[in-house]
Amino acid sequence: MIKGFINKRKFDLKSDRLGPDCPFTHWRLYFKNTMQVLCKQKFKHFPDSAEFRAGAYAIACSKVSIGENVIIRPNTMIFADPRKGSDGSVIIEDNVMLGSGVHIYTGNHRFDLPNVNLIFQGHSPAKSVILKEGCWLGANVIILSGVIIGKNSVVGAGSVVTKNVPDRVVVAGNPAKILKHLE
Ligand SMILES: CC(C)(COP(=O)(O)OP(=O)(O)OC[C@H]1O[C@@H](n2cnc3c(N)ncnc32)[C@H](O)[C@@H]1OP(=O)(O)O)[C@@H](O)C(=O)NCCC(=O)NCCS
Repeated sequence: MIKGFINKRKFDLKSDRLGPDCPFTHWRLYFKNTMQVLCKQKFKHFPDSAEFRAGAYAIACSKVSIGENVIIRPNTMIFADPRKGSDGSVIIEDNVMLGSGVHIYTGNHRFDLPNVNLIFQGHSPAKSVILKEGCWLGANVIILSGVIIGKNSVVGAGSVVTKNVPDRVVVAGNPAKILKHLE
């Protein structure tokens, strides 16, 4: 029990991730000063104006860049690719707004080999996700591998975004489609 406790503490401090499942680092997210120090250690880029709130998850933080004034809210999952030397970073540019529960994925499991259970097939190459400056993602949006969301575009709540979204449009639905072009 004590050994498990010590090992878990070491894992949480060293691992390239944040989230409620890493309690020995997660508590720091409840206080602004400790949140800032922790996030600057873990993420590739984390400015003073950004916030990563308790209850959010990030995997492969060292491949995640977070822009000015960005707030990562509870139940968000940012899943960059943990494999070394692979693509699969997540770039959230300045002034991006995110609702709670946004999920961002850069990878996919392989499923092309016949007669092999998918759990043993490994992963396809990861592709980076970019949320361009000033866009807004509503609550519970899911962004899939390789997607770029355009500058100052809106993604409606609950949308599943499978393809790139141009600048200055509103998209929504599953799969997300353009509802309107903004002037
Ligand atoms: C997308 C959104 C911004 C509204 O944009 P809008 O341009 O005003 O769109 P409208 O309300 O005029 O709706 C246009 C159409 O899209 C549909 N639509 C709107 N939002 C949708 C959504 N999230 N998913 C699917 N369809 C949606 C509407 O039902 C309507 O369909 P219809 O033409 O068949 O009637 C808003 O619906 C939304 O999803 N906001 C996010 C709110 C949120 O998550 N807040 C918390 C985080 S900050």
